[in-house]
Amino acid sequence: MERTFIAIKPDGVQRGLVGEVIKRFESKGFTLVGLKMLEVSKELAEQHYGVHKERPFFKSLVEFITSSPVVAMVWEGEGVVTSARKIIGATNPLMAEPGTIRGDFGINIGRNLIHGSDAIETAQNEVSLWFTEEELVSWKPTISPWMVE
Ligand code: RTP
Ligand code: MG
Repeated sequence: MERTFIAIKPDGVQRGLVGEVIKRFESKGFTLVGLKMLEVSKELAEQHYGVHKERPFFKSLVEFITSSPVVAMVWEGEGVVTSARKIIGATNPLMAEPGTIRGDFGINIGRNLIHGSDAIETAQNEVSLWFTEEELVSWKPTISPWMVE
């Protein structure tokens, strides 16, 4: 089953939006299979954002993500990678549609509240970067026949 990596960034945690974010993924019908709060190390931050290491904003991105706790999650469901990106909204919150998380709660690209994997392969890499196998729980909600045909 498809899985994606979602992280509520320091601004989302500090602003008390953890419950709001979880609620949106739950209400949509995806299944939470991993959840933890952590202080991100510089090493983990640099690995996670490795694709951006030549970009001018890399240093501030790493400083920000390591500045305060993050809530890391793995969500499961058919099409979850693409759907989660839609739920999250455009990278720049000013461009993000109302109804998306960034569109509803953000105004600044460097404070866009949440991360979501951008492709299935990225998701697989990010899930294994942030979580051990033992930290993930495989389960099927008993209501799933009411959500999926
Ligand atoms: P994310 O990886 O955090 O889910 O965000 P994303 O895919 O929508 O955007 P991405 O291009 O991967 O950029 C990663 C994060 O870097 C910050 N950023 N700042 N100042 C800038 O021009 C700029 N561009 C990107 C954002 O915090 C973005 O989420
Ligand atoms: Mg990205």
